[in-house]
Amino acid sequence: MQKNPEIVAGIDLGTTKVVCVVAEIKGSEIEIMGMGSHPCRGLERGIVVDIDKTAEAIKEAVTHASQQAGCHISCVYVSVAGPTISRNSTGMVTVRGKEVEKEDVDRVLDAARSVVLPQDYRVIHILPQEFIVNGQDGIKNPIGMCGVRLETKVHLIAASEPNIQNLTKCITRNGLEIEAFVLDPLAGSLAVLQDDEKELGVAYVDVGGSAVNIIIFINESVMYTTMLPIGSAHITKDIAVGLNTPISSAEKLKQKYGHAVCDMVEEDESIEIPMVGGRPEKSIPKKTLSKIIQPRVEQIIDLIHRTLQQSAFLPALASGIVLGGGGSLLPGFAELAQEILQVPTRCGTPTGFGGMNQIVHNPQNATSLGLVKFAAEGSGFKNISPVPVKEGERKSVISVVGEWFKEII
Ligand SMILES: Nc1ncnc2c1ncn2[C@@H]1O[C@H](COP(=O)(O)OP(=O)(O)OP(=O)(O)O)[C@@H](O)[C@H]1O
Ligand SMILES: [Mg+2]
Repeated sequence: MQKNPEIVAGIDLGTTKVVCVVAEIKGSEIEIMGMGSHPCRGLERGIVVDIDKTAEAIKEAVTHASQQAGCHISCVYVSVAGPTISRNSTGMVTVRGKEVEKEDVDRVLDAARSVVLPQDYRVIHILPQEFIVNGQDGIKNPIGMCGVRLETKVHLIAASEPNIQNLTKCITRNGLEIEAFVLDPLAGSLAVLQDDEKELGVAYVDVGGSAVNIIIFINESVMYTTMLPIGSAHITKDIAVGLNTPISSAEKLKQKYGHAVCDMVEEDESIEIPMVGGRPEKSIPKKTLSKIIQPRVEQIIDLIHRTLQQSAFLPALASGIVLGGGGSLLPGFAELAQEILQVPTRCGTPTGFGGMNQIVHNPQNATSLGLVKFAAEGSGFKNISPVPVKEGERKSVISVVGEWFKEII
């Protein structure tokens, strides 16, 4: 018998826009019911720089998504980026009974959590990499196994407490409750990566407006996460400065005619560009646009390359790199990345979602879609354990639906 459908909502707080997605969970299927996206200038690389602007954009995005979905949203999963600390940590406990029970697993994960963190950081994820029972390593699920000593290796992620509090203000100001904060690239990776890629070794690289967020999976476990302070908006700024055109026109030019590889642009094509200060439009070769774009894209990819090298996981990425985020939509980006990084590189389109095709197939929506997948699979999601925002029981997902829905179930 099919379980009662549940409705969940996620809010991606990006530098360029806030996106709210509402989805219905029917067993193992996720059906997208509504989405609202609103431009936002209240965040910079995940940090709240303007509470009013962020709260307003959330309001618009949520209103649109709930109208489209036909339900009232009251509880959400929220993406978090900004200042975070990621560490690999270990924990060890003695098993209380004859077999490892869930309570032992909770205790060992708690033990792994007790690493020294700077003040003002809050642990948001404890992601188990493996369990070790009586010295036997490589165990993904130790429950039911016999042994007296239980150890674990985890990847721990902590976020800036003041930033979390500011994000909370922006959300709660709209009358919404927060079910959990989810690291931005972790959410995106859930929407885009295939299980076999995670098993073999893969880096999911989200190229956003002002940041590049990276998460590495080896043997299905999160091994490394980081954020680079550079994004696609830098390309837009270069175009604006280089062509003496307003930022809004530079953005349009990038999205309409931009290409990351100069040599792949025809010599004889030209484009009209508006000039700053209302001066008359100017015609330039399309190749000139790419000549501005390519060096910045190379710089972004070089930074990604150096970061992957420093992580020491680059040789282990048998499944290569999967790109997401709006910046990955630039034609030629993936090709250039593959050439520089020398590993297979593909653009990641979200998969495993039904309904609203035009939303689902856009890498720019990977984070918001991943949030509802995280919500759908929650703490039961393989080896990913969310740390709830508040202590106590996970709130019923029914809290995201309107009164009308409560009445009919
Ligand atoms: N078709 C396209 N071609 C090139 N760039 C694009 C395209 N579509 C979107 N972008 C760029 O993607 C960027 C926005 O990406 P995204 O929505 O993933 O960022 P964000 O989530 O708002 O920001 P961040 O993740 O840095 O906080 C913008 O700089 C935009 O110019
Ligand atoms: Mg983003």
